[in-house]
Amino acid sequence: MKIDVVLGLQWGDEGKGKIVDLLAKKYPVVCRFQGGGNAGHSIHFGKQSFVLHLIPSGVFRKNTINLIGNGVVLDPVIFKKECEALKKLGIDATQNVIISKKTHLILPTHRLLDAANEAAKGKEKIGSTLNGIGPAYTDKTGRCGIRVGDILERDFKKRYYTLKLKHEALLKQLDYKCDTNTNEKEWLNACAYLKKFRIVDGEYELNALLKRRRVLAEGAQGSMLDIDFGSYPFVTSSSTVCAGVCTGLGVAPSAIGKVYGIFKAYCTRVGSGPFPTELNDATGEHLRQKGNEFGATTGRPRRTGWLDLPALKYAIMISGVTELIMTKADILTGFKKIKVATAYIVDDKTEGGKIKETDQIPFSSDCTVKPLYKEFKGWDQNISKVRNFKELPQELKDYIKFIERELSVPIKIISVGADRNAIIEVKS
Ligand code: IMO
Ligand code: MG
Repeated sequence: MKIDVVLGLQWGDEGKGKIVDLLAKKYPVVCRFQGGGNAGHSIHFGKQSFVLHLIPSGVFRKNTINLIGNGVVLDPVIFKKECEALKKLGIDATQNVIISKKTHLILPTHRLLDAANEAAKGKEKIGSTLNGIGPAYTDKTGRCGIRVGDILERDFKKRYYTLKLKHEALLKQLDYKCDTNTNEKEWLNACAYLKKFRIVDGEYELNALLKRRRVLAEGAQGSMLDIDFGSYPFVTSSSTVCAGVCTGLGVAPSAIGKVYGIFKAYCTRVGSGPFPTELNDATGEHLRQKGNEFGATTGRPRRTGWLDLPALKYAIMISGVTELIMTKADILTGFKKIKVATAYIVDDKTEGGKIKETDQIPFSSDCTVKPLYKEFKGWDQNISKVRNFKELPQELKDYIKFIERELSVPIKIISVGADRNAIIEVKS
């Protein structure tokens, strides 16, 4: 069997939680392959909602196996809190969540280092969620990280204290005043809690499962936050693109099947960095309020703007997206005009200030980019109860068909509301 992949194609927050929860009906195995507690995947059922940070969004489906892969960085404290919150909903995560031994751990001092690094950057800060993601991946590639499998070793505490010492030296160097002992007890307790779970050789486990079951890989963040292809340095520290599935789970490229790319009907970004179609005006504020664009992890207001086709084309190219899913189409209801960026006018400092029209993403994060827009007529009809593509307002159908033509990939699902059931499956 193949492993199908769900990816965010923008700057995160595309609605991956809701879509994975929906698709999980058809997949007995769901895996996270990168990222950590920086993710916030929201799922709404009726009046209830739940935000997952670390646990795959298949956890709400009975009998689904949820694997946290080796490419993830796991904070045991966040993990434990999430499991306890699930328990209140009657879900016993120890029964359907398994963790790869090779998953790296986030220490309390990784979080402190994240804050110290951001403080040192001042105005140039990334806008990190401060979950310790960057420092944990730094230790992973620096070959001194601690992994979930190490918790089972006798000298685990020694390894922890050795790494903590290294972090203390770094914090001192950064002149960051903090108490490195706070949260230590809670963290060690949470590490012990992890032993309640099946800690597995994720790559063997998954390849064995793949022989007889369909598997879904759930991406966190978005392609434009990828460590290699995002707007560096304003990115996260992992591979958020399709290639990350292979290294983050231990599966071969030939095992990849469908690649679902999720995008919002407009754009948002939280944190610093380039955002060509950003709206710093009343329209942007209206999008923010109507779309409830406030971070699910940090509560920060998200930056908002029109849909950016060059960015989407880029993400589709890098990951070989085979089908598209558009979310939050309902939020655009009531706008008189809707715009879509089709190309940019770029003033590229790295090319001696050469001004050019392009539909490619410029290398530098500090060149001036002015989007060229195509304008669409809006609609007023409430679409949240529509379940059939034909019944959508003509203006929205025109908008969708234009995007699909430009991207040359079919849009198979359209989300028209927050609720689990507010979905249109487009028949080809
Ligand atoms: P989901 O999975 C949106 C952003 C942060 C910051 C940058 C680096 O919910 O889509 P980090 O904490 O990784 O050091 O932050 O990446 N960011 C996200 N933005 N959604 C996310 O996850 C994000 N995870 C990280 O705001 O700009
Ligand atoms: Mg988020």
